[in-house]
Amino acid sequence: MTVDTSPVRIRFSDVAVDFPTADGPMRVLDGINYDIHQGEFVSVIGPSGCGKTTMMNMVAGFLQPTQGAVLLDGKPITGPGPDRGVIFQEYGVFPWLTVKENIAFGLNLRANRTGRAERDDITQRYMTLMGLADFAHHHPKHLSGGMRQRLALARAYAVKPQFLLMDEPFGALDAQTRSAMQDLLLQVLMAENKTVMLITHSVEEAIYLSSRIVVVTARPARIRTVIDVPFSYPRAENLHEDPRFGELRSQIRSLVMQEYARQASQTVRLAD
Ligand SMILES: Nc1ncnc2c1ncn2[C@@H]1O[C@H](COP(=O)(O)OP(=O)(O)OP(=O)(O)O)[C@@H](O)[C@H]1O
Ligand SMILES: [Mg+2]
Repeated sequence: MTVDTSPVRIRFSDVAVDFPTADGPMRVLDGINYDIHQGEFVSVIGPSGCGKTTMMNMVAGFLQPTQGAVLLDGKPITGPGPDRGVIFQEYGVFPWLTVKENIAFGLNLRANRTGRAERDDITQRYMTLMGLADFAHHHPKHLSGGMRQRLALARAYAVKPQFLLMDEPFGALDAQTRSAMQDLLLQVLMAENKTVMLITHSVEEAIYLSSRIVVVTARPARIRTVIDVPFSYPRAENLHEDPRFGELRSQIRSLVMQEYARQASQTVRLAD
């Protein structure tokens, strides 16, 4: 799945982002340089509030860098597009549409390319895969948090985007569903050659799913290290028992803990 020789699809080139605050600009990202190649699965991991969602928002086309450039196939990203399916940190489903209508939404936008019968098939398939078939005509407010999150996943997968940009997509799920959703994602990726950027707080999830892990520092987020995950695809649950999995988990956990500690010491200094 991961080959460095495959073309670069997304490139962060010397990216910095500042946000305005009452005390002047706050630097959130600084000197970010890395590439995501075709077919790669890249996870980004780092302390809360360091700038991970900000990073993804630029790839999604919702935000422009203050300095540097975020490139897609060599061109600066200027806005969102149907090639990039975004799964937001907080669900991202339309409250006024039913489960079925939410899943069909993106397919209907591309109605000229997908026939009615095929759209119905795809919608039904994802409702079933996500365990939502019995709730087809419910609105999101009548679903649990975990069900809303599964709905957001179904909606993004249904349109088969080339890129999946996933911001803590499994955060609101119980452990069993989370593990099932990880395996389902791997299956979707095996069936359709996608390029994925995932933000997660779970080191285990990052190792289990990714071909490469970008560990970022406390704010302003810089690249702390980039780790190649040495396991081939397809992956299976028992990978968690592999001793190399355990070693990698300890190594990454300690890096993330160091960054949390650094962030805490910065906060204390600010409070002084
Ligand atoms: N639009 C904005 N305007 C001003 N400040 C912002 C904006 N978006 C994010 N920030 C600030 O930038 C910093 C990084 O936010 P971001 O959402 O990227 O963090 P994160 O790494 O995704 O955190 P978490 O893991 O908690 O989701 C935070 O301090 C946040 O308050
Ligand atoms: Mg975030």
